[in-house]
Amino acid sequence: MLKGFVFDLDGVITDTAQYHYQAWKACAARIGITIDPTVNEALKGISRMESLEVILRHGHRENDFTPAEKEALATEKNNEYVGLLANMTPADILPGMQAFLEALKAADYKLALASASKNAPTILARLGLADYFDAMVDPATLTHGKPDPEIFVKGAELVGIKPSEAVGLEDAVAGIQAINAAGEFSVGIGDPTILHEADLNFAATSEVSLAAIENAFESKNG
Ligand code: BG6
Ligand code: MG
Repeated sequence: MLKGFVFDLDGVITDTAQYHYQAWKACAARIGITIDPTVNEALKGISRMESLEVILRHGHRENDFTPAEKEALATEKNNEYVGLLANMTPADILPGMQAFLEALKAADYKLALASASKNAPTILARLGLADYFDAMVDPATLTHGKPDPEIFVKGAELVGIKPSEAVGLEDAVAGIQAINAAGEFSVGIGDPTILHEADLNFAATSEVSLAAIENAFESKNG
């Protein structure tokens, strides 16, 4: 029986991917690396330090920096990113998502947040959505990042439900893989050819339908 939803944040509830991209692009440019949207796609859902490693490998500079220098680069990027977040308001909630959260609360589903971002609490507060969630996974407590299932398993656990009773929502390939590995029902939001491993896909947040998710979940698990 479906009892709760475990949400990714970036790209599902709000479009911070553009801000991550802008901040990484500037950071990479300072060390002579150019990144494009294809590289950006690979940064979705993975941690800050993993993102930096992807960028360094892309620029063939993976052996050029000490751990302390890498920390400094990641901090620089984060400072720039946090500066961009300061302008966020509830107007930055992706189309349809507030109504979807309202519908979930009205139906008494448990809601957990499973974002890899250490900035997730700030973002939810800026969007005015913190009260919708019963629990938030703290990414600092995790051993493995997406596509490892840990964050989605923990999200369900924090709201007292089994993975088999949960739906996970994601916009990243690594995230869909994490949800599937956790044994939850995966809902992809975005290009269905990119997110083809999802149990159910919506091309955009405006198309997300609770009834469609409930039906598909029933068909798979019922
Ligand atoms: C995820 C984003 O939500 O958070 C990734 O999709 C990002 O792109 C990760 O790297 C970590 O975010 P932060 O805010 O902790 O640097
Ligand atoms: Mg995401």
